[in-house]
Amino acid sequence: MSLRLGDTAPNFKAKTTIGEIDFYEYLGDSWGVLFSHPADFTPVCTTELGKTALLNGEFAKRNVKVLALSVDPLDKHLSWIGDINETQHCDVTFPIIADEDKTVANLYGMIHPNASETFTVRSLFIIGPDKKVKLTITYPASTGRNFNEVLRVIDSLQLTAKYSVATPADWKDGEDVIVTAAVPTAEIPERFPKGHKIIKPYLRTTPQPNK
Ligand code: BEZ
Repeated sequence: MSLRLGDTAPNFKAKTTIGEIDFYEYLGDSWGVLFSHPADFTPVCTTELGKTALLNGEFAKRNVKVLALSVDPLDKHLSWIGDINETQHCDVTFPIIADEDKTVANLYGMIHPNASETFTVRSLFIIGPDKKVKLTITYPASTGRNFNEVLRVIDSLQLTAKYSVATPADWKDGEDVIVTAAVPTAEIPERFPKGHKIIKPYLRTTPQPNK
């Protein structure tokens, strides 16, 4: 059965490009992004890991630790990093898990047999400091993911964990947010003193409270 939102992200130990890790110990109190790619030395994957490395500062700012994974062996990961750094003008410092026996891939349902019996698909999990799964996405091998969208979701998750708000379609950090239904309209002025708009009784917005 695949992992669903709110499930506990399973712990594991794994060989990685930065040494053996215990997943929970590695994450500590941070947020986590664990993502699989089909195979090393392939073009889309090279751009994905390069983009992730280029966004390293953005993930760090948000207290997020990133881990990549494929079923390729460690020596292959290590020599591929040279190509990623060279072609994508980056410095891959996050761990890439060498999941040769597919332990982690099976735990996280990253192998979709009707897509490929052998390779992991492009699965991605955002995991909260409470080790619960906050987001899952799955892309096919032919489509590279948008890692700025992953950051946007993290911004939303971190904001909505702290305030009784939700974020509208295409929201970006700094834009107005939606006051959740749990907040009675009469309490909005006190709880959201920056102001609010009542567009419909069920659609009430306020400037982003932590900006
Ligand atoms: C790629 O990264 O380009 C790729 C990997 C596996 C299958 C198809 C494309």
